[in-house]
Amino acid sequence: MTTLIRNVRPYGEDPTDLYVRDGVLVDHVADPDETVDGDGLIALPGLVDLHAHLREPGGEEAETVATGSAAAALGGYTAVFAMPNTNPTQDSPVVVEHVWRRGREVGLVDVHPVGAVTVGLGGERLAEMGMMAASAAGVRMFSDDGRCVNDPLIMRRALEYARSLDAVVAQHAEDHRLTVGAQAHEGPVAARLGLTGWPATAEESIVARDAMLAAAAGARLHVCHLSTAGSVGVLHWARETLLPGTTATVSAEVTPHHLLLTDTAAEDYDPVHKVNPPLRPEADTLALRRALADGVIDCVATDHAPHPVEAKDCEWPQARPGMLGLQTALSVVTATMVTTGLLDWRGVARVMSEVPAAIAGLSDQGRPLTVGEPANLVLVDPDARWTVRGAELASIADNTPYEGMELPTSVIHTMLRGRWTVRDGKVKEL
Ligand code: DOR
Ligand code: ZN
Repeated sequence: MTTLIRNVRPYGEDPTDLYVRDGVLVDHVADPDETVDGDGLIALPGLVDLHAHLREPGGEEAETVATGSAAAALGGYTAVFAMPNTNPTQDSPVVVEHVWRRGREVGLVDVHPVGAVTVGLGGERLAEMGMMAASAAGVRMFSDDGRCVNDPLIMRRALEYARSLDAVVAQHAEDHRLTVGAQAHEGPVAARLGLTGWPATAEESIVARDAMLAAAAGARLHVCHLSTAGSVGVLHWARETLLPGTTATVSAEVTPHHLLLTDTAAEDYDPVHKVNPPLRPEADTLALRRALADGVIDCVATDHAPHPVEAKDCEWPQARPGMLGLQTALSVVTATMVTTGLLDWRGVARVMSEVPAAIAGLSDQGRPLTVGEPANLVLVDPDARWTVRGAELASIADNTPYEGMELPTSVIHTMLRGRWTVRDGKVKEL
């Protein structure tokens, strides 16, 4: 199979023709099987999401590997990491292999299951990390996301074990002793609404502790959904003073919703805005944007968290935390980072594709758009604007916080290893 993408702008730079043969970018094809008009479109490497909840097995009323993969492809993604807070938990080779296999059967994005750090996310006994790494799923990222690995001894052992597996531990940084009953960011908004506060220090203290544990273990720590200016400071300090001279690395992600939305969103008391960690004040939001632009925060990850209607259509304290993200991430990053001049399209490729692929150790994703590289790419219309409608998104759940908002940039086509997964904004039937 050969494809010519005519007159497209890689990374938003000068227009050129891209040629694909058998899943690989090549320098020329004499007589392509198909020609796609790239006029006015920007080509980026296929996006890589280190943090999505695909809910299968056990949560199929909100999302499945199939519907989550469709949402991902429509969002411009070619690889997605599926968090282990499923039912049963992804804490054994059997479950991670099941999710991995479902991803292959669906074939819209590479689905990489994240293995649990502890059995059942219970925080007490290490899961079979080595067995999951050795399984067909080849797990290289472990997390108890949804929960923090709160016990420092368990975290230390997990980091040491991950090091021997050449894996990374992704921490949901939340000291649960400080967030008992927490509902929203601890501050004036939560106080006014009578909601128990989630203090910034619950996150920041774990980021600091885990950076120290990672440095001592010479291990790789990744911090999920960094949400406060204080955490950015801790990260900066760790890089400057703690990590030099060690083999340890500390990377961090930020979500699109923490880049755009603030704690005042809770004032409508609509649980669509309830998320963990919570939306923070504007000063944090602006600090997160700057840190992403400066490279202190390494990448964007969605924390795509579909929930069934009954988990969201209730009183705030009873609602489950989390919001959809896969199909809107690129548009929200455009609105917060590109339109504001903080990142150019090369920068977007870096934080949404190249760096997350490198953190996860993927060798065939997040590659440059150059000859000889795998043809994983997305073509976007930077001038398009679209209005978000939860009911029209590919996810089964519709808990988007952007309902009715007009956002910039549309994903037009997505290609995975030379095969279109999305054409003209529609999932391609395989
Ligand atoms: O808001 C969240 N939702 N934060 C998490 O850590 C977990 C996630 C979920 O699974 O719904
Ligand atoms: Zn989390």
